[in-house]
Amino acid sequence: MNREIRVFADAQALAVAAAERIVGLAHEAIGQRGAFHVALSGGSTPRMLYQRLAGQAVAPRIDWNKVHVYFGDERTVPPDHRDSNFCMAREAMLDTLPIPSQQIHRLPGEAENLERAAQDYSVMLGRQLPQHNGVPVFDLILLGMGDDGHTASLFPGTTALTENSRWVVPVFVEKLDTWRLTFTYPLINNAAHVLLLVAGASKAFRLQEIHGDSSFAETYPVQGIMPRGSLEWYLDEAAVALLAREGRA
Ligand code: 6PG
Repeated sequence: MNREIRVFADAQALAVAAAERIVGLAHEAIGQRGAFHVALSGGSTPRMLYQRLAGQAVAPRIDWNKVHVYFGDERTVPPDHRDSNFCMAREAMLDTLPIPSQQIHRLPGEAENLERAAQDYSVMLGRQLPQHNGVPVFDLILLGMGDDGHTASLFPGTTALTENSRWVVPVFVEKLDTWRLTFTYPLINNAAHVLLLVAGASKAFRLQEIHGDSSFAETYPVQGIMPRGSLEWYLDEAAVALLAREGRA
């Protein structure tokens, strides 16, 4: 794994740079294999990126007909619910981009049987993506980080953290008192590229623990992201403010 950290002035500059990186990765994947398989992250940070990808400055530069979209995690709500990661991505970009509908693979958080939904999604991944050592290989997985150090729906203290074979699992998140569906480390860490977008002052303390020289830091789920390929942290100044004070950003 090669790891890179890039810091941008603010969330907008981070979104612009991440969109450029995605254009490059899409060109590379489509040029080499005729398709670009990308898993989206949820939450609020990527919204600006998705809007940028759908905008006139970027959208015409990607062959969307060759793009396959997946979701790295999903809340257990209907797809039109305001908390749905699919709903956010649909509103921010999927409704306007010419991606064939059969190439948009929604993670059905609303399913009655979450185990079955996770299993069915995994079977689809096995069919759709190239594999390495029998595990699907995403060209790109987008991730964020919560202020508790979670990523996707790999929350501290949850059973998903110790899943070492299944690719997608349901997980009960006690602190939120809710179920989620999430990619697991075996799947995420098999990706060719992972782009981890972290913006805002609320993430600064955790980033200082993770990237700073703090000896007291425990380990957080996001630190288990060690892809075979590249791991790129895209951060903004607000998120690295405490690291900057240490002179480490
Ligand atoms: C989710 C996301 C999650 C997100 C972090 C950061 O479903 O919430 O997949 O992992 O990336 O919670 O969220 P923000 O971008 O809203 O801070």
